[in-house]
Amino acid sequence: MKSLFFLSAIASLRAVNAYLQVPSGNTSFTEYSGCATPACGVSVTGFSAAVNQLTFGSIPGLGEGDACGRCFKLTGASDPFSPAFAGPFNSIIVKVTDMCPAAGNEQWCGQTASDPGNQFGQPFHFDICEDTGGAAAFFPSGHTALLGTFTEVDCSEWTGSDGAGEFNGSCIAGESAAFWPGNTACGNQGTCCRVVRLESVLGCELMVSLIII
Ligand SMILES: *[C@@H]1O[C@H](CO)[C@@H](O)[C@H](O)[C@H]1NC(C)=O
Ligand SMILES: *[C@@H]1O[C@H](CO)[C@@H](O)[C@H](O)[C@H]1NC(C)=O
Repeated sequence: MKSLFFLSAIASLRAVNAYLQVPSGNTSFTEYSGCATPACGVSVTGFSAAVNQLTFGSIPGLGEGDACGRCFKLTGASDPFSPAFAGPFNSIIVKVTDMCPAAGNEQWCGQTASDPGNQFGQPFHFDICEDTGGAAAFFPSGHTALLGTFTEVDCSEWTGSDGAGEFNGSCIAGESAAFWPGNTACGNQGTCCRVVRLESVLGCELMVSLIII
């Protein structure tokens, strides 16, 4: 009779999908140009925007996130650099086509699952495209960074048309999906923003086998 013991420890690398995707909330706004090759792989003719990485639902280089194609009503409410400015402020409807990556844009788009506020305390950020007129319609003259609110709306309320897909994996399916929450459109990819943890202690599964011959 021989006794053999097999031990194997399996440390699991648990990926925490912690994207923050809700249909409305408080947000900050800025503007950018160069929106013709967006992360969703589809550029549009109407007003468009990039959203912060934690809300977009992907990481740089992986392409689309679940935000792609979703439409939002954006409304300005204040200028963090000119608190006394009382407006008037504007509302526009944008389609999301792009990501504002956390890396390099920490001030506005550096939200993380464990620290979901940017440097202005905002859990969301919309970077509005200048090239197709959205920024000019939204920002009061001389005010190119604002705080305010966003609300997801049906894309039938948005004006514009979609271009052709620019790469394999291009996706704009949020335009016909049910509103957030729910990962129902292009889907999310990767995990956002430094939340992958090696669960070396709690997640460790110790498997013991005793074989008696
Ligand atoms: C948005 O900000 C206002 C004013 O600071 C606050 O009263 C409200 O609760 C916030 N809404 C959300 C959804 O966080
Ligand atoms: C997209 O992927 C398919 C299948 O892998 C491939 O045949 C096709 O050439 C790709 N198209 C482009 C534009 O890369």
